[in-house]
Amino acid sequence: MLNSALEPVVRGDWAGNSVIDVACHQGYFASHLARKGAPVLAIDARPEHVADTELIARAYGLSNLRAALHDINILRPADLGKFDVTLMLGLLYHVENPVGAIRLARALTRKACVIETQVVPNMTGVVDWGSYQFQRPLVASFGIIDETDETHAPEASTTGICVTPSYEALLFLMRKLGFGRIERIPVPPGGYEQLTSGKRVMVIGYVDG
Ligand SMILES: C[S@@+](CC[C@H](N)C(=O)[O-])C[C@H]1O[C@@H](n2cnc3c(N)ncnc32)[C@H](O)[C@@H]1O
Repeated sequence: MLNSALEPVVRGDWAGNSVIDVACHQGYFASHLARKGAPVLAIDARPEHVADTELIARAYGLSNLRAALHDINILRPADLGKFDVTLMLGLLYHVENPVGAIRLARALTRKACVIETQVVPNMTGVVDWGSYQFQRPLVASFGIIDETDETHAPEASTTGICVTPSYEALLFLMRKLGFGRIERIPVPPGGYEQLTSGKRVMVIGYVDG
């Protein structure tokens, strides 16, 4: 799915397209893109993941794969600059500020950003806004998931409070935060059941519509 979305962006020139993998874990996706020739920076909040990614880079002789320790809750995008491609896979539903995470992804991205995330059921409607005489539409919704007892887990949230968007919230925020065009990446036959059922989604947002 990732390759099918990124091939039209890089058009065969992997070496000419820089990549940042935000929340890289042990560097699986980062190392695959580095093996295609892309210069990749892989970041994660857990030092053991950064060390594992560096080990993978050494094992495969990937001098174009670097890893660094960064917590996206405090990362300033200006510290890292811009990358042609941003990956934010499996992170959004583990953070307490998903709006800030998407804003960060947009700030880091020169061409396209792939976001993969768990999503929660959407709710819409109309809410009173200051008075029953003044109402606003509820455009989308978030769900709060409690991971406070699991922050030790290698894949989990670092703070334990997970504010997870609905698919509609994800699209709304990506549009509002500056992605000109957003596409849902099709799931191939036999794909991961969560993606097939729509409980997770993988989308690509382009900076230029
Ligand atoms: C479910 S794993 C996803 C890993 C990988 N991107 C993938 O899709 O397979 C979540 C990752 O997010 C990292 N993470 C959680 N909170 C983070 C934060 N605030 N800043 C940076 N990384 C974080 C975790 O350490 C873990 O590596």
